[in-house]
Amino acid sequence: MVRAKIISTGGYLPAKRVTNDDLSKIVDTSDEWIYERTGIRARHMAEGQETTSYMATQAAKQAIERAGLTPNDIDLIIVGTATPDSSFPGVSTQVQGALGMTRGAGFDLQAACSGFVYGLKLADTLIRSGSEKTILVIGAERFTHMVDWTDRSTCVLFGDGAGAVILQASEGDSGILDTAIYSDGSKNDLLYASGGIATTKTVGTVVMHGREVFKHATRAMAQIVDDLLSRNNLARTDVTWLVPHQANKRIIDATAKMLELPADKVVLTVQEHANTSAASIPLALNFAAEKGTFKAGDLLLFEAFGAGFTWGGALVRW
Ligand SMILES: CC(C)(COP(=O)(O)OP(=O)(O)OC[C@H]1O[C@@H](n2cnc3c(N)ncnc32)[C@H](O)[C@@H]1OP(=O)(O)O)[C@@H](O)C(=O)NCCC(=O)NCCS
Repeated sequence: MVRAKIISTGGYLPAKRVTNDDLSKIVDTSDEWIYERTGIRARHMAEGQETTSYMATQAAKQAIERAGLTPNDIDLIIVGTATPDSSFPGVSTQVQGALGMTRGAGFDLQAACSGFVYGLKLADTLIRSGSEKTILVIGAERFTHMVDWTDRSTCVLFGDGAGAVILQASEGDSGILDTAIYSDGSKNDLLYASGGIATTKTVGTVVMHGREVFKHATRAMAQIVDDLLSRNNLARTDVTWLVPHQANKRIIDATAKMLELPADKVVLTVQEHANTSAASIPLALNFAAEKGTFKAGDLLLFEAFGAGFTWGGALVRW
């Protein structure tokens, strides 16, 4: 049976690290408030030429090198992002150009914070169908350019970065077992950007009804767990590692509790990365994979939630 196997990961975080105390000099907030409510202590912030495509390219280069491939071994690049360098061309083709790739294809995918999981779903389906053999899936964001730096309820929550995985067709038991994606367009108004090319001609800034988002996100996580496990005849206790979207430690804790997973079986990067939107899961995955956290045969559960609302997950046998 052909599966899409994660053969390597890569990541990029800007060098500039901004702590909660740093933010308390800009807006009326405190380390205590931010940490208690979200688990965030710091975030990385892109500077100058560290655009979304630049960060995505760095993460891609690392993943390609670790896989022992060359850029022209890749058939397709999918980039999940809500903060592209420009409206067009897509970040994916900018990465393709920067990598010197002369074949294959690339496109961007907009599913807000769920962009990476949506990309995985697509890549998995294309690989299983035999259409493509090797796919680079990237989540990359420069979200600190999307926040209103006078709005303390949102600006403290986000960070920048990029994460990448290479998926390759492989025979065997390891790889993506299943993916699930969902959306609910009736909740557009609870988390959105206040602008857009077709409306204000500007990109706008993040507007979020935090409490409502929190409530829906927690419910969505439960749905992902239930759907993915039940349709694969797996028990909650079969999950070895939770690799969640890193938006809020309280949401992550609630999901871990549901899975009866101890804290040391949850990949947690929110304290250092904050919410990097579509980059958050691949960055967390890369962080853990670099440390040799996962063993062959481990069952990983990814799950994400974002504007739309969009949400989704993936079950991966390492
Ligand atoms: C954003 C979030 C941390 C806010 O926490 P909350 O407990 O819901 O807080 P509220 O928004 O109700 O605000 C409570 C108070 O804190 C204040 N506050 C908001 N941001 C603050 C900050 N950075 N520092 C200090 N006080 C702040 C509010 O003004 C409010 O004060 P008031 O009671 O005097 O009006 C929380 O709602 C959350 O995590 N939501 C989910 C976010 C998420 O996951 N988003 C990403 C999805 S992809």
